[in-house]
Amino acid sequence: MTLSIPEKDEITAQDLPDGATDEMTAGMTAAEAVAIRLADETRDQVDRPEAPPRRSRPWQRYLEAELGLREYWYPAARSTDLPEGATFAVKMVGEELLLVRKNGRLYCVEDRCAHRGTRFSERPLVLSEDTITCWYHTWTFDLDDGALRCILNEPDTALVGKTGIRAYPVTEAKGLLFVYIGDAEPPPLSNDVPVGFLDADMAIYIDEPNVLHANWRLALENTFDPGHHFIHNWSQFVIESGFPMTFGYVAKKGEEHAEVSYVLDPDGPLGFSRCTKTTELIFSATIPGKNGRPDTVYTAPAAVGRPHEELVADFLAMPPIEVGIYLPCENATVNFPAGMTTYDWCVPIDENHTRSFMLGGRRCVTEQEAELWRGEVGHREWKVPTIDKFLVDDNKARQSMQTFYEKENGWDRERLYRPDLEITMFRKFFSEHARSIQTRDKLVGPRSRGRRS
Ligand code: FES
Ligand code: FE2
Repeated sequence: MTLSIPEKDEITAQDLPDGATDEMTAGMTAAEAVAIRLADETRDQVDRPEAPPRRSRPWQRYLEAELGLREYWYPAARSTDLPEGATFAVKMVGEELLLVRKNGRLYCVEDRCAHRGTRFSERPLVLSEDTITCWYHTWTFDLDDGALRCILNEPDTALVGKTGIRAYPVTEAKGLLFVYIGDAEPPPLSNDVPVGFLDADMAIYIDEPNVLHANWRLALENTFDPGHHFIHNWSQFVIESGFPMTFGYVAKKGEEHAEVSYVLDPDGPLGFSRCTKTTELIFSATIPGKNGRPDTVYTAPAAVGRPHEELVADFLAMPPIEVGIYLPCENATVNFPAGMTTYDWCVPIDENHTRSFMLGGRRCVTEQEAELWRGEVGHREWKVPTIDKFLVDDNKARQSMQTFYEKENGWDRERLYRPDLEITMFRKFFSEHARSIQTRDKLVGPRSRGRRS
């Protein structure tokens, strides 16, 4: 850009850079003012390009849910993270929480003092059976409803009954602590977990949660992504077993909707699942040559030298895998591995981080069998082959897209293809059924009305 400097000495409003003050322009000639304004505009164009306005999509609400959903139960921690008498701090869905277990009761309050914002978790003081005291200036809050109970260094304060902190409903199931993030009366937990998860005979092995540098939507979509299985050709489990992965579990053309079953039970979770039984099985593909050079046929490493019919027969002999996706943010993959269900909650921490709880479920007849599954057997039969040797590659892939979506306008720039159809089906489903979207302004809203469960 060329800067054109006017031949005049009087400064007019149009000559000034945006936001210029009188002090800034004092003593400046019109030519200087214009030069600065134009230089400013040039710099803006070069260094800080305006992101183009976001195109409206049929899944617009999904795009707005950077921080996840509000008015839902989420797993916050493992039961073992919070032994009797302990506290546990966790950030989720943008909120900073402090979990407390005291005399067998569970509590959850915001980890932020109403006085001046000190984090209780930096020195948690549970000095009575149901209060938390701020270690800075002694304000003491009721763990049940967050109300200010007293102030130790001002016993006759008039503030009691007038202020407090947020308190969150919390409950425990299947070895996890679930917290309700929202303001309305919480629904039963069974509304927000996959079908069958709470069944009495479903034993759950709990792996250590992973913190991923990825927005929760990138993490959640990965498991459901029909085109992503290509990555698993390099998973240790596949290499060791010699059982090749297809290049994707992509629905046959025109059958994308037919393979999906919606779950819309008003007293249960909302979501849908698809069965991989009818997918196109591609183990080998051709990269066309150009300029007279020959085509290249690429075959999945473990499929080399094996007839296609044999590979298809082996695949169809396995119990069909059913991949489910549920609100607010979880996957349930039935028969993965065979006879087991792999659950994965992609809980938003903030806009750019996700805590992934991967859990292995198996139906057990006796309590003794369930006990073994939750320990040694689940470790050997589920955690090592499924997490350590397989899903570890999903976590890598989930994070590899983050820069594009976080910094490069990825939600607008993504170019989708047919196998992404089922992802967009979920995005639309989500946009239609989500109870409420979490937003930054709700994080600093007024305190809750108190404990509700
Ligand atoms: Fe907590 Fe002052 S900041 S009592
Ligand atoms: Fe995967």
